[in-house]
Amino acid sequence: MARARILAAWMAGGLLAAAMPAGAAEGRDELARRADESRRVAMEFMRALKGELMRAMKAGGPVEAIPVCRERAPQIARAFSERTGWQVGRTSLRWRNPANAPDVWERRVLERFEARRRAGTPVSRLEHYEVVVQDGRRVFRWMKAIPTGAPCLTCHGERIAPEVAGLLDRLYPGDRARGFEVGDIRGAFTIVQPLGE
Ligand code: HEC
Repeated sequence: MARARILAAWMAGGLLAAAMPAGAAEGRDELARRADESRRVAMEFMRALKGELMRAMKAGGPVEAIPVCRERAPQIARAFSERTGWQVGRTSLRWRNPANAPDVWERRVLERFEARRRAGTPVSRLEHYEVVVQDGRRVFRWMKAIPTGAPCLTCHGERIAPEVAGLLDRLYPGDRARGFEVGDIRGAFTIVQPLGE
């Protein structure tokens, strides 16, 4: 039974790659609806963040924009989390802020995104969701890859201006989020929605 449902969901969208726990109450439509909502919230999150980043870049260049990113990114994530009652954030296999490091589930999804990208899937189409049991509770988890664009290279690329690199060194001693190229997966939006019992 569970097997049939997984197979049906897999054939329908190719999104539900892992097993749903036995007795899952949510049907495929319900999960698709939750994924739609997650996508909408992530897009709003991105728009808000990009707006602030671009304004700061215009006003004072990357050196001024870095502190904005550092303060505003977590604040905006928190505001969205409070508004929705979900956990909303960003993560990456090569993170800048250790607070954004992936957990075990996120790491697995990110690694699968990398494999799918190598196999030719456009980064903008890399999305995954499933119901998982976490700390004894069932939750809906959703992730969507964030592509690296040209403007991102100022702070995440191979050749970073010395004053920018110097500030990043000071603020993020363990920074792993450099050396990206356009088209790489910079990271992913990640959302956890609590489910009823
Ligand atoms: C002005 C410099 C700057 C630019 C430009 C920039 N970022 Fe970042 N990025 C940062 C900083 C600083 C952080 C760490 C934020 C924090 O402390 O939470 C970060 C963190 C991130 C993270 C969270 C994961 C991690 O590494 O900690 C993602 C995802 C990300 N950036 C994607 C992008 C993308 C996509 C672009 C281009 C659209 C971009 N960034 C452009 C400075 C920048």
